[in-house]
Amino acid sequence: MTRITFLLLVHAFSATHCANILGVTSLISHSHHIWNEKLAEGLLKNGHNITLLSHDKAKIKHWNYTVIHLEGGYENIQELFNFEESFSQPESLDIPNFWKMLGTVCAHDLSTEGLKTLMKYPEDYKFDLIIWDLNAGECLYPLIKRFGNPPVVGVSPFGLQPYISHMMGHHYFNYIPFYGTSYSGRAMSFWDRLTNTFSINYLTYLRINSYLPKMRMLAKDHFGSSLTEPPVEVERNFSLALVNSDAIFNFPEAVAPNIISVGGLHIEPAKSIQKDLRKVFDTTHGVILFSLGSNIQAEFLNKNMMDHFNRCFETLPYTVIMKFNNTHHRKFPKNVITRPWLQINDILGHPKTKLFISHGGALSTQEAMYHGVPIIGMPFFIDQIGNIAKLVERKIAEKLEFDKLSPEHICHKITTVLENSKYYENVQLISKRAKDQQNTPLQRAVFWIEYILRNGDGEHLSSAARDMFTFQTLNFDILVFVAVVIATALALINLSCTIFQKQRIKFKVG
Ligand SMILES: *[C@@H]1O[C@H](CO)[C@@H](O)[C@H](O)[C@H]1NC(C)=O
Ligand SMILES: *[C@@H]1O[C@H](CO)[C@@H](O)[C@H](O)[C@H]1NC(C)=O
Ligand SMILES: *[C@@H]1O[C@H](CO)[C@@H](O)[C@H](O)[C@H]1NC(C)=O
Ligand SMILES: *[C@@H]1O[C@H](CO)[C@@H](O)[C@H](O)[C@H]1NC(C)=O
Repeated sequence: MTRITFLLLVHAFSATHCANILGVTSLISHSHHIWNEKLAEGLLKNGHNITLLSHDKAKIKHWNYTVIHLEGGYENIQELFNFEESFSQPESLDIPNFWKMLGTVCAHDLSTEGLKTLMKYPEDYKFDLIIWDLNAGECLYPLIKRFGNPPVVGVSPFGLQPYISHMMGHHYFNYIPFYGTSYSGRAMSFWDRLTNTFSINYLTYLRINSYLPKMRMLAKDHFGSSLTEPPVEVERNFSLALVNSDAIFNFPEAVAPNIISVGGLHIEPAKSIQKDLRKVFDTTHGVILFSLGSNIQAEFLNKNMMDHFNRCFETLPYTVIMKFNNTHHRKFPKNVITRPWLQINDILGHPKTKLFISHGGALSTQEAMYHGVPIIGMPFFIDQIGNIAKLVERKIAEKLEFDKLSPEHICHKITTVLENSKYYENVQLISKRAKDQQNTPLQRAVFWIEYILRNGDGEHLSSAARDMFTFQTLNFDILVFVAVVIATALALINLSCTIFQKQRIKFKVG
């Protein structure tokens, strides 16, 4: 057998040919971009061609990878959303307001040069598959039809949001806490469950009846009515949802077959520590990592709050490494090292890292769990409050109370976590489990995307619940029916007894 025929044979048996894939991520968030780019990396390795529509520019270079930049998004959101304000008082999620913001961002996207670039592709240009970040960007749905209606795989770096469950035909709200509440999900009381049920259904209802129609109007104005289908029907076509949650990082949840858990997809084994910090790590007794993520920044903390932290930090026998762009040359204690940029994953993976002080973002807390580092949480908004509540419930984290913030409070929390070995042991257990899987979440995600490329639209994975009303999937109509039947039967029995008794009385009297 010649080499050529052998290669041809290998090619014939190779499972999936190289596909041309479009990714769309429209949420304004560096971490969403990073997550989607990690997924792209996995696909690039298998020879696919990836075009990603994003508010961020490409952070990796690859022959087959193109990012089409939706310019101006971050500047746009800064006018809308005062991050600094939310630092004074953490907020519970204001759903209508949050969606209003997403609507403004989507309207912005429609006006970008980035979108024009994509729309200039030849009329008959086709993608083999589209990956859609399900957390925003619904006014861009007409792109799906524009590029030949290929299968769409939804992804959610944000985890399994209730409306994604609903979209994929998986209705729940009895034991999974809504991300905008502070319920940890264990031992919810009757009233907790009532609020939870209300929040989840309110969110789903508002999305379908107010948010999506607005997105459809935006889409129609821009793309015209021939490309614009009702968003709910577009979503009914989605093949799969790959979600950043699983039974290791989150509390277990039964999901439908078209929802694939890829919790911690973005996490990699730690590489060596960035050059400028190696000396620090060589000489220190232990490191406390302080990072408030990529969207909110420690620079927004007012001076008073920062002073509370610093006055605690200077008393500790550890080195604090803080993600802080010290452009104003603020003063820090000797054992606090600031850097505008940190390789968080590598630092968390270093054995000398003892503690992570975090805003409670989903991605970085997953990294901490993966690497077995206990957490002090300082949540601000959206899902962060619920994320930290769950970590506290699992006894791998403590939460800082904003209204009690003082050097003593901070130090008390830090020593609680560092001196009680329970926190460390618990998070080590989670770390061990996260590493003990059949395959990595990224491999799983790539497999399922290629599975859809090989096997069509994935409709065979949709349960019948996807086309049912929520009250039907909950058996609500049946329960009501049974209740009515029982009530009627009881009423009839009662009635006949009364008649019977009256007759007896009559009979006796007679
Ligand atoms: C790969 O993606 C780029 C950017 O969208 C596109 O120009 C090119 O045609 C694609 N290549 C293939 C082989 O599909
Ligand atoms: C780029 O994509 C093409 C087809 O889409 C594939 O044949 C080629 O191997 C890829 N190149 C790399 C460097 O992965
Ligand atoms: C759903 O997908 C099918 C098959 O590609 C397509 O014909 C149909 O128009 C899609 N529906 C919507 C609402 O986009
Ligand atoms: C730090 O701030 C300076 C000045 O505002 C800016 O130019 C730089 O890009 C920032 N660095 C990072 C990593 O954000």
